[in-house]
Amino acid sequence: MTQSVTITVNGTTHTHEVEPRLLLIHYIRDVLGLTGPHIGCETSLCGACTVELNGKAVKSCTVFAVQADGANVLTIEGLAVDGKLHKMQEAFWNEHGAQCGYCTPGMIMTCKQILDRNPNPTEAEIRHGLDGNICRCTGYQHIVKAVQAAARVKA
Ligand code: FES
Ligand code: FES
Repeated sequence: MTQSVTITVNGTTHTHEVEPRLLLIHYIRDVLGLTGPHIGCETSLCGACTVELNGKAVKSCTVFAVQADGANVLTIEGLAVDGKLHKMQEAFWNEHGAQCGYCTPGMIMTCKQILDRNPNPTEAEIRHGLDGNICRCTGYQHIVKAVQAAARVKA
């Protein structure tokens, strides 16, 4: 049994027949071929799969594609506009917020959400906002600095 879903991803609307059990992360990666969002744990622990669903950061391994029917999804591929990086991407670059890069697509989407909710977070608020995203490389310090740097950019 399949079900029709229509989902707008990074501004492009797609309609597909999918199995009801298909996870949104698999729809994004395997059906649409957008491999920016990563799969780490598939159990809602690591945050590597984080995307925005109707403007809210979600772990796309915890959402079925059918639950996103009619929704707007933003992935890391959709963050840069007209070749210009989003300020959070710039900040990760400038502050060395990535090492191996595996967590980075989800981490950047989460960091963007932190500032979307609170443009001037304290360090403690940033670290609390990062609770759901695991990075095994950086020790988080440069990621916190990246969020602080992006917060200083008014755009
Ligand atoms: Fe979704 Fe780890 S793959 S939280
Ligand atoms: Fe390697 Fe975060 S940069 S897991």
